[in-house]
Parts: sequence; C-alpha cells; structure tokens
Amino acid sequence: MKKPVILCVDDEENILKSVKRLFIDEDYTILTTTRGEEALDIIKNQKVDVLITDQQMPGIKGIDILKRARETSPGTVRIMITGYSDIGVTISAINEGEVHRYIAKPWDNDRFKQVVKDALLKNEADRNGHHAERRIKQELADLTEALRAASLHTVRALSNAIELKDKYTRGHCDRVLEYALLIAGKLDLPSKQVTNIRYAALLHDIGKIGVPAKILNKPGPLNEAEWKLIKQHPQYGAKVTLEIDFLRDTSRIILEHHEKIDGSGYPYGKKGNDLLLESKIITIADVFDALTSDRAYRKARSYKEALEIIEEARGRHFDERLVDIFIRELAGQTPTPLPQPRP
Ligand SMILES: [Fe+2]
Repeated sequence: MKKPVILCVDDEENILKSVKRLFIDEDYTILTTTRGEEALDIIKNQKVDVLITDQQMPGIKGIDILKRARETSPGTVRIMITGYSDIGVTISAINEGEVHRYIAKPWDNDRFKQVVKDALLKNEADRNGHHAERRIKQELADLTEALRAASLHTVRALSNAIELKDKYTRGHCDRVLEYALLIAGKLDLPSKQVTNIRYAALLHDIGKIGVPAKILNKPGPLNEAEWKLIKQHPQYGAKVTLEIDFLRDTSRIILEHHEKIDGSGYPYGKKGNDLLLESKIITIADVFDALTSDRAYRKARSYKEALEIIEEARGRHFDERLVDIFIRELAGQTPTPLPQPRP
C-alpha cells in the first residue's frame, strides 16, 4: 500500500524541520515548503492525504491555502496550526468547514501525532461514508483544545465564534452576561461564584459547535430528530468545559442552563433544589434575551411582554426570588437597545 502523504507549510524552516523529526518513525511521506503557492502546486499535481499549514505567514495566509486546497482536492484533510490570537479565526474556519482540525502553538508532540493519525483515519471513514459522528467528535476535540489554550479574554472570542455559527444568537451571550450580573449583583455572592457566572453566561451555548449549522439556522420548525440534536448542546458544552481547569466550575452551570425548577426542562429534568443557583440565574437571563430577540420563526417581543412571560412562569420554570430581583433590577435600568434584525 502507498504511504500516506503529509504536506506541511510554514514560513519558518525550523518548524518544518521539527515536523519532519516528529514523524521520523512513522511510515509517512512528509513534504514541506515555506511557500503557500508551492503547496497549492503540489496539491494540484499529486495526491496529498493531509495538509498542515501555519496561519500567520507572509503572503498567502494559512486559511486561504486551506480554502483553495478544499476546491482543488476536497479529499485532503486540512489542519491549521495557529497561535492564541487566531483562535476566533480558527473556530470560524472549523464552522465553515475550511479546517478539519486545529493545533495550538506551542504544540504538544503527542497530540500533534494523534491529530495526524485521526486525520488519516478520517480519510478512511469518509471513504466508508460514515463521517458525521466523527466530525462532531472532532469539532468537540478542537474546541476543547482551543479552550485549553485560551486565556480569559479569548473566552469572549470563543463565545463570539459560536455566535457566528448560530446567526440568530448574535450578541446573545453578551446580553445574557449583562442580565445575569444584574441578578448576581444583588446576591452578595463570593467573587469566585460571580466569575463562574460570567464565564457560564458567555459560554452557555458553546456546545452548539456540536450541532450542524443548517439545523441551528433552519428557518422553519424543527423535526424530532433535529430537536434531539439541539437538546444535546448542554451536555456537549459541559463535556468540553469540564476538561479545562479554569472552566471546570462552569461545567455544571452550562449543563443545567435549560433545566426548569418544576423538572420540565432538559437534559435531565432536574428540579429546583437540585439545580445550582448559578444555573437558575443564567436560565432567566437566557430566556429573557431569547424572548426579546428576533428568531428565525418569530419576531422579538417587547421588554414588557417578555417580563410578563417570565413572571407568569415564576415558581414553575424560574426561581421566585431570582425573578423578583430581575424584574426589580431591570425596571431600574435604561433598556439596552433592542437587537437589530439579523441579516
Ligand atoms: Fe442553550
């Protein structure tokens, strides 16, 4: 059988040398180049199984090489190497389908090797026709990797990247944060708990990366199978944050953000006493913003109408005391301008 061909593009010779060293014991053909244009020529003229490229290079950027490679050779698995500052670009590229996998710099050698192994397996799985589940697992693995590399300010970049995938929630996470802090600010909570509420507000829907964009953005009603997939996003989100040290405490909040205190929520139908205070805060903030935003299937409701809906579900879906605080605090606020209709 022919050896798998791996093509690596980086403007730094040293990086290319270390990649070659990394795979010295593997039975691969490793091609390298410092020039994006040359990489594209190679792909045009011979079969390349895996293409690995740096993002930041003079001239043609990594993402553009991958885009063009996708057209010339759709069967090539595309991997991007990026630094911290490119995390937003990378996650969007994964969402758009330009990039299959992502490696953060400085990379971990074992993970790098595993990513390439997985990429070769993906090629095989694609040929066998069942790649959907694998793709979701890979997206979650990439998200976990991105979060692991993340510093605090990139939490926001990541939450924005998720909103790029789900067009109807643009600005949603920031507003959920604002509403959640309105409630939390009146509870005299320890600062650690407030920090967890902040992260959870920004990242509560991060598990949507595991849900195909065409379902998230479907204009009409969802069928049962589609709903089932969407309802998995709290578990996906909890799973990825559980693996990140500084986000571990937000994991359960993310898991519970669609639960209701009478047990009619999802994914587990947990009741009031079993839910974290932090989760109950995020739930109110999340539902209020969803009600006051345009959705694919309905227009935004006014603040007044949305508050009536929240109040009506007080003690049923939402914690009574928290609803009271929210309504009182919101009444004292100048309302944030309502979100503009989504393009
Ligand atoms: Fe959600």
